[in-house]
Amino acid sequence: MPHPYVLLSAAVSLDGYLDDTGPDRLLLSSPADFDRVDEVRASVDAILIGAGTIRADNPRLLVNSEARRAARVAAGKPPYPLKVTVSGSGDLDPSANFWHTGGEKLLCTTDKGAERARSLGLAADVISLGPELDWHRLLEHLHEERGVDRLMVEGGGRVHTQLLQQGLADELQLVLAPLFVGTPDAPRLFGPGTYQAGRLRLVESRRIEDVVLMRYEPTAPGTGVQASPADRHWLSLACELATLCPPSETAFSVGAVVVAADGTELARGHSREAGDPVVHAEEAALAKIGPADPRLATATVYTSLEPCTRRASRPFPCARLILDAGVRRVVTAWREPDTFVAGADGTGLLTGAGVNVVVLGEYEDRAKAPNRHLL
Ligand SMILES: NC(=O)c1ccc[n+]([C@@H]2O[C@H](COP(=O)([O-])OP(=O)(O)OC[C@H]3O[C@@H](n4cnc5c(N)ncnc54)[C@H](OP(=O)(O)O)[C@@H]3O)[C@@H](O)[C@H]2O)c1
Ligand SMILES: [Zn+2]
Repeated sequence: MPHPYVLLSAAVSLDGYLDDTGPDRLLLSSPADFDRVDEVRASVDAILIGAGTIRADNPRLLVNSEARRAARVAAGKPPYPLKVTVSGSGDLDPSANFWHTGGEKLLCTTDKGAERARSLGLAADVISLGPELDWHRLLEHLHEERGVDRLMVEGGGRVHTQLLQQGLADELQLVLAPLFVGTPDAPRLFGPGTYQAGRLRLVESRRIEDVVLMRYEPTAPGTGVQASPADRHWLSLACELATLCPPSETAFSVGAVVVAADGTELARGHSREAGDPVVHAEEAALAKIGPADPRLATATVYTSLEPCTRRASRPFPCARLILDAGVRRVVTAWREPDTFVAGADGTGLLTGAGVNVVVLGEYEDRAKAPNRHLL
């Protein structure tokens, strides 16, 4: 199901807290970083916070820069992003700043919460996501009903924790502030539990006055037919590898990456690599991993073109090599056309053998790009 791009944003003390236990909000960021946050807000379609943050901080969540608001309007957008909050109880103060400043407001809640919220007369649209708050449904609703392509999540800890644990965050923008809170019952950025993010990839670190901004992306593949944000990164890498293939008039240019469940890259390959005129991408990548590697059983193979089912140059096609390696999940960008093999159906062969195959069609053009002369 299509989701918006989800960007988590938070500032944290050196000892990992989001706030202290005092009545006022603890200022962790520096002035220049608050301006950077304003810029990020101006770049998104919606900003989401948990009901706990409304209660604790009473934030306005505005784009403060007039120039940034004007630029949004010039681009055909409303001056302020949609403001979204989540609550199970629906018990929110109708006089909170959240409801009376900035752009449109939306409360995403449960059946019971919606009843309570409607009785309070909140100045917002209220939608129920069922008896429990389901984050997938929430993200689908924002994307499909509200046209949200980019969502910024500004906490608090309970909201950030769930989105990372459920493998729904595309990016984490974390600001480390040079101070200590030291109170054990202050709110932490991330709570206990099992995280579906893998070892995060650090994509940027930047000094902003006395704080440091770190931008991370999750690396862990999705599970089953559910795609994770990291699936897009790895498939994009496979498409990039396809551009490294020596050109051929008689075979496709394909890239492949094999990634363990914890986000560790096990191997990569591309067609005709290392002077082998017939080797395929998935074959080249799998050949670099010991066949007894226990990580294969839970690994994902990313390949720009779906694995082949018949080939003249080798005894086994790639779909068979993937099955023999014990891999149970494949993510691909492009179904094989009839150029060289009529009726090729690598996806059918793999799914018939119980492998989960995810086709991310938004990468099809990139997968085709190095093969234009064959199509
Ligand atoms: N440093 C920073 O960058 C930063 C940013 C934001 C917040 N903060 C701090 O973080 C603290 C608040 O964090 P928090 O973790 O307590 O609150 P939070 O994450 O903002 O909100 C938690 C609330 O959201 C609702 N909610 C979340 N997940 C839900 C689910 N799955 N089902 C139903 N309802 C759900 C519940 O509302 P109901 O209780 O209404 O059911 C829950 O109590 C404050 O101290 C604030 O200052 C710091
Ligand atoms: Zn092949």
